[in-house]
Amino acid sequence: MDPIGRLRQSRIYSSGLVARREAIPTRPDRLEEKALRALGAEAQAYLGGGAGLETTMAANRTAFDRRKLIPRMGRDVRHRDLSVDILGRRLPLPLLLAPIGVLDMAHRDADLAAARAAAKAGVPFITSSQACSPLEDIATAMGDAPRWFQLYWSMHDQVAESFVKRAEQAGYEAIVLTLDTTQLGWRPRDLDLGYLPFLRGRGIANYLSDEAFVAVVDENTSSIKPGRPGLGALRSLAEMLTTRRRGVAKGRPIGDLAEAIRRFVAIYSRPPDLTFADLERLKSWTRLPILVKGILHPDDAKLALQHGASGIIVSNHGGRQVDGAIAALDALPGIVEAVEGHVPVLFDSGIRTGSDIVKALCLGASAVLLGRPYVWGLALDGQAGVAAVIDNLAAELDLTLAFCGHRSLSELGRHCLAEGL
Ligand code: GLV
Repeated sequence: MDPIGRLRQSRIYSSGLVARREAIPTRPDRLEEKALRALGAEAQAYLGGGAGLETTMAANRTAFDRRKLIPRMGRDVRHRDLSVDILGRRLPLPLLLAPIGVLDMAHRDADLAAARAAAKAGVPFITSSQACSPLEDIATAMGDAPRWFQLYWSMHDQVAESFVKRAEQAGYEAIVLTLDTTQLGWRPRDLDLGYLPFLRGRGIANYLSDEAFVAVVDENTSSIKPGRPGLGALRSLAEMLTTRRRGVAKGRPIGDLAEAIRRFVAIYSRPPDLTFADLERLKSWTRLPILVKGILHPDDAKLALQHGASGIIVSNHGGRQVDGAIAALDALPGIVEAVEGHVPVLFDSGIRTGSDIVKALCLGASAVLLGRPYVWGLALDGQAGVAAVIDNLAAELDLTLAFCGHRSLSELGRHCLAEGL
């Protein structure tokens, strides 16, 4: 069988012969532009934006540009293997779909569409705490395919514990604890629109379907004081009604739903007080391996390991939290060194191409998380759009590996890179 890079090229060029262009551009910048054009102002801001002047988002990209691959010639690399072993599971690609909240801002089928595309490709989907369907429904949509659950550890431990137990019950294989977003970063694009999707009842399906959360709400329910119903208020109401219609707040009267949203907002943001010692409490709730996401300093990686983390995810949250932060790729080598191979180090923040994946693996990542590009695929063509983005990335990865003269990902290392050019 032809390797996947060539197969994908042939498919695209053959469609071109009968004048059929792919709906999903292969160029990452065109993909983003086309998706943004299809979205409203609020979705453009929330999905596309970052913290402050967005210099961290830019740094994530220039860190890739400063490293160049060194192609090697004269090697027989006809047969190539793109698979990797992560936490005891063989994955066909060194790729996972990153946890991203409020995917219904991109497409009405949201997480279910993205999770189905991931499942078909054998790529683990990391369900966000801020998903638009309850984590159980996403698991059902995936059948036996691998999935992880991302935890935002909110103010109430009982809600976090309940999420983790539900995930374990629903066949998730790992917990990803995000440490960098106990509160949202300063995001001017959203702030200037005055738009936060959670306040409209979007991206809180896991909470509305959670008994521990409902108990917290019921304990604290107070009467809703309606404001003057301007146009904006009517829009908010319409969004809440949509949330209810989708079944994520089944049976709840709208006033009750508004109260649940208010409670969500109150408990979602915790003061940034989680410490690595809290990992041990999390471990006591589940048998699943726990990976910590948002690590950018080698000492933090070491502390996470000391407190029982089974994996590290190097990430600056796609530049959404701290403006002027270190590029995730620049942080990667020091963290890989600190971890000394004890656990897998995954990379997130800035992956756009197959060549980027090769570079991250050269610097010691075991696999990478793909974020915004799959959201753009989702925005343009739902499940098929996400599938096309995965296929394009895999094809480019395959060809890049071949042209660099390697047969398997385990051959990659810093010797394959020229750095600081
Ligand atoms: C977190 O949910 C984010 O908006 O980055």
